[in-house]
Amino acid sequence: MASSATLSSRRANVQVRPSVTVSELEKPELPLKSIPGDYGLPFIDRVLPEFKACYTELFKTVEYELAEKGKCSFQTPSEQAAFNFLARAFFDSNPVDSKLGTVGPSSANIWVLFQLGPIFTLGLPKYIEDLLLHTFPLPSFLVKKDYKKLYDFFYESAGLVLDEAEKMGISRDEACHNLVFATCFNSFGGIKVFFPIMLKWIGLAGENLHLSLAKEIRSVIKSNGGELSLSAMEQMPLMKSVVYESFRIDPPGKAKKDLLVESHDAVYEVKEGEMLFGYQPFATKDPNIFERAEEFVPDRFMGVDGEKLLKYVLWSNGPETEHPTVADKQCAGKDFVMLVSRLFVVEFFRRYDTFEVEVGPAPVGVAVTITSLKAASF
Ligand code: HEM
Repeated sequence: MASSATLSSRRANVQVRPSVTVSELEKPELPLKSIPGDYGLPFIDRVLPEFKACYTELFKTVEYELAEKGKCSFQTPSEQAAFNFLARAFFDSNPVDSKLGTVGPSSANIWVLFQLGPIFTLGLPKYIEDLLLHTFPLPSFLVKKDYKKLYDFFYESAGLVLDEAEKMGISRDEACHNLVFATCFNSFGGIKVFFPIMLKWIGLAGENLHLSLAKEIRSVIKSNGGELSLSAMEQMPLMKSVVYESFRIDPPGKAKKDLLVESHDAVYEVKEGEMLFGYQPFATKDPNIFERAEEFVPDRFMGVDGEKLLKYVLWSNGPETEHPTVADKQCAGKDFVMLVSRLFVVEFFRRYDTFEVEVGPAPVGVAVTITSLKAASF
């Protein structure tokens, strides 16, 4: 399918936006995209150090469990690291030191599950899943307790952001609901699904790629005086290409209303409510655009010709070469997501030469188990 087909689909409102089922959340959205400056800039100084701190904890946990049991599921430590990192980076507040403790990820998971009900699969027969999960809104009282825990944590932690919101004429309560949504659904939910996908593709790509990434990342950091910085990360073309390729190969989506999806040689009618798990991959795996479209090609986006393909990377609900605006539905966290995904690859290969994974099904995304890790030897 051509990129133009994807764009017309996007204009026709192909979205992953969930129907909101928790009554507290049925409020107008904060005008996030119209906040002056880039969404994310106020906390940018905390991103690199907090990411390193939280993901070092993750790596230690994985190493410990691997030594004990011979393998380690990536899911739980990864979600703990993501939740802690987001709270520490966005609000300068460590959940582990608060009343919330370590239950943030499980409370967020329950709540995100209710948001994702329409696209969720438990692996049951389709007609049972459609009846249980995809027909009626899941009752919000079941998640009220977990939602309240999250709300209280954000209300106490995000004082500075809530002050700013009040200055903009938005009540603290209103703003806090939006912070829970942006942090737990957009950010935590996105990272929770995407990092295992990325780890899967990089893991399956094998040792040669791992060593090339380790060499590139470590040599750039070395020539940057041993420090990682945003500009140093820009000088890592293979790492950047690997992250783009992970976003190209596995994005999700769902139709909100009837639409036509056009390819180079056909038009498909999609009826309202029909699931379109494949719509983005149709476009981002278009063989007329991408050679070996079904394969994970780590260096696909390197060089001048590779960069020309970035406009066909559409995970954010728009081309990678465009910036989200108030006039479109492109992901407001696009640049932040790209940054943290790159950071994950960088921190991983600062620490390890290579690794192996086993991959299994998960309700959303994939389940990755790490079966070996080789510590950095150079
Ligand atoms: C891997 C992580 C992420 C993925 C895959 C992702 C993906 C998406 C997609 C596909 C949309 C379009 C949905 C729609 O049409 O309604 C979207 C919208 C949005 N995203 Fe993200 N996102 C991620 C992370 C984030 C983060 C970290 C933030 C903010 C901190 C964020 C904020 C938003 C907002 C506010 C919108 C609504 C934009 C609008 O309707 O104008 N996202 N995201």
